[in-house]
Amino acid sequence: MEVVPLHSADEVARLAADTVERLVRERPDAVLGLATGSSPVPAYRELVRRHESGVAPSYAGVRCVLLDEYLGLPAGHPQTYRATIARDVTDALGIPADRVHAPDPADPERAGSAYEALLGDLGGVDLQVLGIGTDGHLAFNEPGSSLGSRTRVKTLTEQTRADNARFFGAPDEVPRHVLTQGLATIGDARHLLLVATGASKADAVAAAVEGPLTASCPASVLQLHPHVTVLLDAAAAARLANAEHYRHVYAGKPAWQRL
Ligand code: GLP
Repeated sequence: MEVVPLHSADEVARLAADTVERLVRERPDAVLGLATGSSPVPAYRELVRRHESGVAPSYAGVRCVLLDEYLGLPAGHPQTYRATIARDVTDALGIPADRVHAPDPADPERAGSAYEALLGDLGGVDLQVLGIGTDGHLAFNEPGSSLGSRTRVKTLTEQTRADNARFFGAPDEVPRHVLTQGLATIGDARHLLLVATGASKADAVAAAVEGPLTASCPASVLQLHPHVTVLLDAAAAARLANAEHYRHVYAGKPAWQRL
């Protein structure tokens, strides 16, 4: 795991955008896994800014896959993750809706296996952007999720519903159920890029990076993956026992070897 404690959320956004752009330059038909939530939004803004200023690679050949989707919202509801990701990033990068895939909330029973089949047909995910929940969840894999799980229906914890209430008119409007890629599904991506900023993520980040491998902290499953990059601002890195060491390792690498 490459853990990169940075000074600011801006630096996190720039390095995350660099990582996405490098992939798309190398592989114009890349499969890009996108996360919703507020953590990656500054990175998405940076990608859009570069795209609009004409210095970015073309996204015309890219396909995007989402990690998860709410159940029970009317199609087109502005808080569906499909609508959110279009608004936050893919529309502005010129990626048409039919090249952006998400688990299908219209058919929850079959959506899991259908989405697994689709990910297989696409040849797997090249780079998966991830955030982390304050309880250590990845996508919507809440504590207790099997480390071997695949895409399926999950029930949200009250903590996650409360965390996400800010996107809805009232806390009660947050759906109770979701479809989410499983932890093993996420682990099939070739490169995982976790971005976390702010003090509210510090405990979850420390548990994921330095704690035991346990379903109680779903993000600890990252420890099993051969290619993980964790970009942190100072507040999110504050509870890491070995932050100085990670900084030292990162600073000592030649530029071409970083990330
Ligand atoms: C949601 C999403 C996750 C995201 C998490 C953290 O629960 N399903 O993919 O990582 O929120 O969100 P935020 O980045 O807004 O803190």
